Amino acid sequence: KKAKMILEKDFKIAEIDNRIYGSFIEHLGRAVYGGIYEPGHPDADEKGFRKDVTGLIKELQVPLIRYPGGNFVSGYNWEDGVGPVESRPRRLELAWRTTEPNVVGTNEFMEWAKQAGAEVNMAVNLGTRGIDAARNLVEYCNHDSGSYYSDLRISHGYREPHKIKTWCLGNEMDGPWQIGHKTAAEYGRIAQEAAKVMKWVDPDIELVACGSSNRSMPTFAEWEATVLDHTYDHVEYISLHQYYGNHSNDISNYLALSLEMDDFISSVVSIADYIKAKKRSKKKIHLSFDEWNVWYHSREADKLIEPWTVAPPQLEDIYNFEDALLVGCMLITMLKHADRVKIACLAQLVNVIAPIMTEENGPAWKQTIFYPYMHASVYGRGVALNPIISSPKYDSKDFTDVPTLESTAVYNEENEELTIFAVNRDLQDGLLLECDIRNFEGYKVVEHIVLENDDIKQTNSAKTEAVKPHTNGDASLRDGALYAMLPKLSWNVIRLA
Ligand code: AHR
Repeated sequence: KKAKMILEKDFKIAEIDNRIYGSFIEHLGRAVYGGIYEPGHPDADEKGFRKDVTGLIKELQVPLIRYPGGNFVSGYNWEDGVGPVESRPRRLELAWRTTEPNVVGTNEFMEWAKQAGAEVNMAVNLGTRGIDAARNLVEYCNHDSGSYYSDLRISHGYREPHKIKTWCLGNEMDGPWQIGHKTAAEYGRIAQEAAKVMKWVDPDIELVACGSSNRSMPTFAEWEATVLDHTYDHVEYISLHQYYGNHSNDISNYLALSLEMDDFISSVVSIADYIKAKKRSKKKIHLSFDEWNVWYHSREADKLIEPWTVAPPQLEDIYNFEDALLVGCMLITMLKHADRVKIACLAQLVNVIAPIMTEENGPAWKQTIFYPYMHASVYGRGVALNPIISSPKYDSKDFTDVPTLESTAVYNEENEELTIFAVNRDLQDGLLLECDIRNFEGYKVVEHIVLENDDIKQTNSAKTEAVKPHTNGDASLRDGALYAMLPKLSWNVIRLA
């Protein structure tokens, strides 16, 4: 089988916002306690944070981490997590039915994120709290000094303001499972007023309004339109969340789910632009895909977890090879929308539906999905190009005309590098990619990284890394064109410079 592609320097979608390679850490399961934070672990620093975990996060070059939730944030009193640790309350955490010890809070997390090389995308509680708690948190984090909350931060040992730029106005407020679930109009109003005063405290911040919890929500589309009707002039982004799973064990259909993600993104762009038109606004709303991943392996096991324990092993999906391929397709899909998707967070980062897992008192290890995420984050910086692709197609249970080749390319003008990301969705055959790279004269193949495996259900573990990339791909140049054999069911990164 054969696919063709034309790459041209001037076919540009947009400059990629590096924040699309963001991730997420929630006070949930073993993400914080037993994940990034494990005092007593041989690799823990003096504050209790695991340096081996931070090391893996640095390998991923994660630019932005959303915190502290997720569903957790809708019942969180941020004040519980600051000040002397010994006076912080233990709380019943209603979103995940655990006990939150509040040993790690805003300041510890901000310090840790700095070490991990990431900015923080801070969420405020618009479930049980509201405008007052939100504006106070902005004052606590971002105001220099001379006011109650900024001086409180200083008294807690943090002289310099954290200067958090990106803020989420609550989380999944359309979901009946959410603490303080709201109608679109109720949420739109509170988000608008919270946004207004948060920006009065710090005009430099950027705000994300909650979109739908996923594309199947009955209120989807109407929700976005109503929320943006209220918040349009006060926010920069509307959020999208989506998780997928191979529930019917149908890989052809599973790998096509990124087409649904593509449609979801286009729909939200249309809704945002409809409100733009309605308001005769000059402003464009961008998208924050601030929760995305595969999530389904652990759903049954989670039902057996003892309630009100501290940091139980929740949402610990163990990813297999096919999950890595879908994650690759999802990353390519977001790059194709680099003109509108400016923030995205792989949900989540450590232990909870995560690319990085930890063993208690033992090693940290890489899940299969670590690799496509790392490759995109490390090599996918620059300008998203718009390749012209012709690929064989197939039909699956829910999709028609699924391209066998899912691909895109990124041009890094500064480093004079061109990177092609490609997934071959074919179950049986390799796909010969012929790529016309016309005005990239003098470029040579640096490497052709391939993630492939004979067993689509293969997983990694603390002991063995059975799914890991190799660099024996056969990409080569002939007469100004690039040729590469993409093995059946494979993730490929072809780097030229
Ligand atoms: O990421 C796990 C959960 O998924 C988040 O807490 C919530 O926002 C979403 O439903």
